[in-house]
Amino acid sequence: MKIAVAGTGYVGLVAGVCFAEVGHDVICVDIDEDKIKSMKKGISPIYENDLQDLMVKNYSEGRLNYTTDFKSAYKDADAVFIGVGTPEQLDGSANLSHIATVARQIAECVEKDCLVVVKSTVPVGTNDKVEQFIHDFLINKVKVEVASNPEFLAQGSAVHDTLQAPRIIIGTESKWAEKILMKIYEPFKLPVVSVNRRSAEMIKYASNDFLALKISYMNDIANLCELVGADIQAVANGMSYDDRIGNKFLNAGIGYGGSCFPKDTKALEYLAKQHGYDLRTVKATIDVNNDQKTILFKKASKRLITFNGLKIAVLGLTFKPGTDDLRESPTLDNIPLLLEQGADIYAYDPVGADNFKRLYPEGKNGNGTITYVNDPKEALESANVCFIFTEWDQIKAVKTTDYKKLMRSPLVYDGRNIYDLKDMLKAEVEYYSVGR
Ligand code: UGA
Repeated sequence: MKIAVAGTGYVGLVAGVCFAEVGHDVICVDIDEDKIKSMKKGISPIYENDLQDLMVKNYSEGRLNYTTDFKSAYKDADAVFIGVGTPEQLDGSANLSHIATVARQIAECVEKDCLVVVKSTVPVGTNDKVEQFIHDFLINKVKVEVASNPEFLAQGSAVHDTLQAPRIIIGTESKWAEKILMKIYEPFKLPVVSVNRRSAEMIKYASNDFLALKISYMNDIANLCELVGADIQAVANGMSYDDRIGNKFLNAGIGYGGSCFPKDTKALEYLAKQHGYDLRTVKATIDVNNDQKTILFKKASKRLITFNGLKIAVLGLTFKPGTDDLRESPTLDNIPLLLEQGADIYAYDPVGADNFKRLYPEGKNGNGTITYVNDPKEALESANVCFIFTEWDQIKAVKTTDYKKLMRSPLVYDGRNIYDLKDMLKAEVEYYSVGR
């Protein structure tokens, strides 16, 4: 089928590449000329396993192309997928201006019947409005319907999550739209759950917010574990044997980040508020997460008089391993606090350092300094304190004994619980983690 994809961020590009990989004829549209040029050269704009290889393969085999010319892409497409961003606004609601722009472009150029499929995460009811909006601007006498097809990929495993998704959710309002989506997804050979449009939109928020709630719940229990002398990892392990709970998303730490959970929890709370409903569970999820992000900084502040002039090793900058994305990363809350007190930070991240440098350039930053290093051990050399913010394999590979050997005083705050307490004790490291 001929598929056009609007937006080449995580959602759009990965979807487009995977549609091509299963045999569809795909054209990806973006307004950024430079991005299109470099994608044609086989360079992926995002750091994501397998993505670049599949881009090169499908482009060279002629199933995948990129363009800024949306007219040529949309006019004869069987389906146009919208994967543009829906960034959070100051009040927590989603900004739908990019979706509206694409919807209008589609309306003004489609020349044959076309299904518009919204992959971006949008508040429940948005797709009804998108359909109306397209009909209002439609120029040619063709049939255009809007379907919802939320995306469930996680950064770092995006291609795998798309090609081997546990389920595909399609939300349609007609048999015609359902049939087209079924045909598009047939080659994936994955379970397809077909629901109405608003339910599909809600499944996305309810899923993300449930996972965020699970994390905040574990962080809440972790904080209580510390007070009563229990160990959150042992507790999580014990809980995980119950199929009703499952063994995923039980890791306590310094809170969830990224472009999705923070945004989608706030958006659902906002949606509820708009409808006069107080969504207390999600509100609590957000509150716990906000406090959790700086929990180790607060602990360290009690232990030390000041961070002024101290050499602080920061291991990990991104919101999770496997991505260079810094959005809502706990480091964005902690680094300013450390700098404000005049800390000399030595930061290591295998892929996120370049992005971080754009926000905090090497050298003097406010009252403190930041130096970026290429090896976790370099950051630890003569450090007074170490903060572990992301559980990259390269960081997990640092031996417990290295902290004692390299640091001036082996004082470690681990936001991802990567070491065994006994091992750290044996290595004579003063070690603080979360919920243990
Ligand atoms: C998340 C969802 O997992 C995807 O299913 C969804 O499609 C995506 O949002 C989206 O809406 O686009 P992502 O934000 O890439 O994906 O990352 P996750 O792997 O879910 O991690 C989110 C955050 O939760 C990270 O900061 C991670 O460190 C934290 N986390 C995760 C924990 O603190 N504990 C856990 O046990 C698991």
